[in-house]
Amino acid sequence: MGVGSAKKRMRVGSSKEGAMVNLRSESPEETQRLGEGMGRLALQGDLFLLVGGLGAGKTCLTQGIAWGLGIAGYATSPSFVVINQYRGRLPLYHIDLYRLDSIEEVIELGLDDYLYGSGVCVVEWAEKAVEVLPTEHLLVEISFLSDTSRNLVLNPSGERYVEMLSQLKQRPKIVKKRMSQT
Ligand SMILES: Nc1ncnc2c1ncn2[C@@H]1O[C@H](COP(=O)(O)OP(=O)(O)O)[C@@H](O)[C@H]1O
Ligand SMILES: [Mg+2]
Repeated sequence: MGVGSAKKRMRVGSSKEGAMVNLRSESPEETQRLGEGMGRLALQGDLFLLVGGLGAGKTCLTQGIAWGLGIAGYATSPSFVVINQYRGRLPLYHIDLYRLDSIEEVIELGLDDYLYGSGVCVVEWAEKAVEVLPTEHLLVEISFLSDTSRNLVLNPSGERYVEMLSQLKQRPKIVKKRMSQT
């Protein structure tokens, strides 16, 4: 990972106040539908950072993002692969850091080609790599409420993602009325 991108590294708490979105999903399909909306709006170079425990729904959301990018053949989470690449309207790079133990291991992956490449990046377990990921991103924190309910906090860092969220909010079928601005 190059030093050159250091100025784009993540700064915690850099989100624009008032732009954060808090919503509830009551089923895997609802989470997928949100992801699909994100995928439809995604532009080249976009970065989604997903945070949440095992089984929270990060891969479920990614599945929707893939659909939104026009990727039909999305499988499930790769078991032993850190990066999976799919071809859609834009390439999707699905990065899962679950099995990595240290920041050094993340750096060794050389993610910059993906992060600053021509596609869309989704990073599961992004909290493991906070120091080396770009400052501008859409952070999605998913927490478990019950078997079928999840709370999702969408936190944009950078104008691009504030704009994306405002577009997402204009799609009532994706982000339902339950959604509230924080
Ligand atoms: N509202 C929901 N949103 C997302 N997943 C849900 C929801 N309710 C139940 N689930 C289930 O939770 C599991 C989430 O798994 P997965 O997406 O692989 O989690 P992660 O990638 O965060 O470890 C799936 O089995 C999914 O069917
Ligand atoms: Mg997963």
